[in-house]
Order: sequence, then structure tokens, then C-alpha cells
Amino acid sequence: MKVLKDFDFKGKRVLVRCDFNVPLTSKGDILDDFRIKRTIPTIEYLIKKGAKVILMSHLGRPEGKVVEDLRLDKIQEKLMEYLDLSVVKAKDCIGKEIKDWIEKMAPGEILLLENLRFHKEEKENDPEFTKALSELGDIFINEAFASCHRPHASIVGLSKYLPSGAGFLLEKEIKSLTRIIKNPEKPLVAVIGGIKFETKIKLLDKLQELCDFELIGGKFTLEISERKMEKYLSEEVILTKDVYVLEKNKDLILKNVRDLKGDEFIPDIGPETIKIFGKKIMTAKTIFWNGPLGFVEEKRFREGTRKIAEKIIESDAYSVVGGGETIKVLSELNLLDKFDHVCSGGGALVDFIVDEELVGVEALK
Ligand code: 3PG
Repeated sequence: MKVLKDFDFKGKRVLVRCDFNVPLTSKGDILDDFRIKRTIPTIEYLIKKGAKVILMSHLGRPEGKVVEDLRLDKIQEKLMEYLDLSVVKAKDCIGKEIKDWIEKMAPGEILLLENLRFHKEEKENDPEFTKALSELGDIFINEAFASCHRPHASIVGLSKYLPSGAGFLLEKEIKSLTRIIKNPEKPLVAVIGGIKFETKIKLLDKLQELCDFELIGGKFTLEISERKMEKYLSEEVILTKDVYVLEKNKDLILKNVRDLKGDEFIPDIGPETIKIFGKKIMTAKTIFWNGPLGFVEEKRFREGTRKIAEKIIESDAYSVVGGGETIKVLSELNLLDKFDHVCSGGGALVDFIVDEELVGVEALK
């Protein structure tokens, strides 16, 4: 797979697929610009090398129609803020008008195309749509790790038409996650939290193969116990021992997981669990963390997550953390930059760990 240093970008039209699919408020404001920030080094590098930079992304799921709230105007504003440069935004992502505009662009200028998913052909990986996109560039750079599990035109199609390679972020994501799935420095410890158990089962299973120890958050511990999932009842899978329960009268009480009835709201892990998890974390040489350990939307329920984060930071293990909720809370706790790698993907992260490859990455090879 080629990377940025393998190309001569001078005077070239460089099509960069980014993942600017950021969470938005109901008013359409950007809630978290982490993914935008992470693409800045690649854009700056291309500008320095004299490229005409053409950025493209999807936002949300407009299902092939123009949805006013999903236009990329807010992304354009953020890019201008971080780059401290002017970024022009096109009204669409393909067409003669855009092609003509690009012809007139000077090296170092930036154009942001409109939301790719306003065309249903993007998701369908339609050859004509892919061709129309490819006509806008001389080189294709994929910087959208978080979308690399999607077999869409701008992810898997363009490399058929253009010389292609990975941007800095995609390159780092692959290298860092490969340190988890291929010969990790042992012991490898995974910390798995979150709420949606069904979406994490395949990840739990794969990590059970890879890890020396899996530390499992409160909600998932409950699911495992209730469903009597014997495959997780092994010495390597360390379940939550105690949790806080929020009683109907709003009292917070500490309970052993064995004493839970199953319908209680459990907003955080307890001190015994923190101690057990902390000890295992301190033995690790590699740590992978996905999913918060409590109801972190509320500040008072962040203690377990914060203490586990601090333990991981204190350990001398190589640490990789991923998942939207986990990143959001760690960023609010000002701990994010203390991890060795922060993964920008959600579904792509899970698929890469489970399948050990992603269609978007394979297309570049
Ligand atoms: C993500 O946020 O996981 C990616 O941007 C992909 O978005 P999608 O799930 O709508 O395809």
C-alpha cells in the first residue's frame, strides 16, 4: 500500500476521501470535531507539496437525497478554522461545473465537495458515479479509516481509476491496530464496556482469541450472567464484581453483581472492580479499550471510567482506545492525548479487529 511520501503531488489534483461524519446537535452544530482535526496534517502536507486539494466526505445517512441539514457547510467552517486558510465548498460532488472550477484552482488551494451520500450511487458503488468522481483528480488519497468498512464508490471504487494511497491518519490507524491483532506484545489486555451488547459480541469473541485477559464492564457482565453464556465464564474473562445501582428513590447504593435483580439501572462500576481491573492493567504490555464503563453522559457517573483510564495511562503498556462514546468522555476528562493511539473508527474499528482487514484498505493494495 502506498503512503503520502510515495507520491509527487506538485501541481496535481489530489482527491482526498475524509470521514467528516461528525456528531451534530439538533441545530446542526458540530458536537465533536475530533475526526476533522485528525485529517489536518494530511491536508497541510498536501498543500506544502503544491497539490490542488479536493476533499470529499459523507455526513449522516441522507439515503441518496439532498438533505439541507446534512450539507457540509459546518465542516467547511471548521476546516477553515483549523487550517487558517480559505476552503471553497462546491454545491455538489460531481459535474462539469466542479471539473471546470478545479481546472482553475492554483496549487495549494482547497475545495470541499458536497456530501457524497446525496447521490445514492455512492453507496451502490456505481461505476459511472465512481468514474465521474475520478475525473476530478489525478491521485486518490484515502484518509477515511472510519468508513473503510463500507464498499462505497469513494472508498473502494476510485483506486481502479487513479494512483492511490493512504493518508497519515489511515496509515497510523492500520499500524496501531495491527499491533493489537498481529503478534501483540503480551500480556494483551482488553477493556470492553458500553451498552449495546449485541453489537459487541463478535468483538468480544475475537478478543477472547487474541487477549490474555478481557475485562468486562457492568452492563455486559449482567448480560453474560443472565444469558448464562458459558464461553465467557473462563479465567481469562474478568467480569465486573460490584456496581453502583441507582434506586427508584434516587439513592446510589453499592451492590455485588450477584445480588442484582436484572432490571436495575447500573450507572457505574464499583471500587472492588476498579481494583481488580487496575491490577490486571498494570501487568499488561498492550491494552485495547472500547466502550465506557458507566453512564458517562452524567459527570457523576464517570468515576469508574476515569480511574480505569488513569490506570491505563499509568501502566507502561502500548494503549489503543476507540469508540465514539469512549473518546468523547476521555476528551472531556482531558485524558485523550495520553493514549498511544486513539482510533477514529466505530464500525470500522470493530470490523478491522474481527476480520483483520477492511475493504477500503484492501482496495489500496
Ligand atoms: C462511522 O461513523 O462509523 C462512519 O462514518 C460510517 O458511517 P455509516 O455507519 O453511516 O456508514
